Amino acid sequence: MTAITPPRATPAPELTTDRAATLRHYLMCPPTHFEVVYAINPWMDVDVPVDRGRAIVQWQALKAAYEAHGHRVDVVTAVPDLPDMVYAANGGVVVGGRALAARFVFPEREAEGAAYEAWFRESGARYGITSIGQAAEYDEGEGDLLLAGDVMLAGTGFRTTRAAHAEVAERLGVDVVTLELVDPRFYHLDTALTVLDGGGPGVAPTVAYLPEAFSAESQRVLRERYPDAILATLDDALVLGLNAVSDGRNVFLTDRATSLHARLRERGFVPVPIDLSELLKGGGSVKCCTLELRGTEAVA
Ligand code: ARG
Repeated sequence: MTAITPPRATPAPELTTDRAATLRHYLMCPPTHFEVVYAINPWMDVDVPVDRGRAIVQWQALKAAYEAHGHRVDVVTAVPDLPDMVYAANGGVVVGGRALAARFVFPEREAEGAAYEAWFRESGARYGITSIGQAAEYDEGEGDLLLAGDVMLAGTGFRTTRAAHAEVAERLGVDVVTLELVDPRFYHLDTALTVLDGGGPGVAPTVAYLPEAFSAESQRVLRERYPDAILATLDDALVLGLNAVSDGRNVFLTDRATSLHARLRERGFVPVPIDLSELLKGGGSVKCCTLELRGTEAVA
């Protein structure tokens, strides 16, 4: 009889991956005035206290993580009485050095559009950003507008309108694919989908998304365009795991989305866990705090 030897525990292999990072240029806004005093999405509860000091420390750790990976981070000064300004992704969208500042749906955030536009005009100019002004249509910037390769994926249903998608296509000169969001918990596209790399000639970008956050028609569009996508679980999406930032190799995302971390590793990405528990109380995570300045001449 052959003795059965139990398998020996082997240490987890070091992650080896060919995925390459490209250096990025981000704009962030510190949570200097962050608080939850109104509720414009289901994550916000004015009765749950926010620890602003902790929010600031968490935000600084995110900024430091980007810088430790070689990315450039610029900072826009927070404006008093605009507690959501920390969610810089919503400030606009920048492609090829052309910026379109946001037009917010809720009056509570309206003044942020002009604040971000002012940054693009004043500070963006030195990086070759040509501000092309503020959107005429309701448009919440990179909250709903995610560039995947050369296509702009554009969310609608809660904030950014279809008319805004047409405006983005025209003013930024990009092809836009409209995706309809159907679950109010995933009110911005960047809460339901993340772009992990830009793909290449004949190769679709890699994306991860939560199928049930989208209408049946949009699910069909996503399946067709991205047959190899990572399909996230509701648990991962409910800690805003999809609200992530990828440089093509490293994926900065909440430490809470553990099953998504595992899926990313399987596909050769390197998860960089970030604790943003205070910012989650406003309905945002890593991506919400990060606006990518694309096509700038980043000056060291
Ligand atoms: N409280 C903000 C709002 O509801 C959160 C924005 C989050 N940002 C994002 N890119 N999803 O507008």
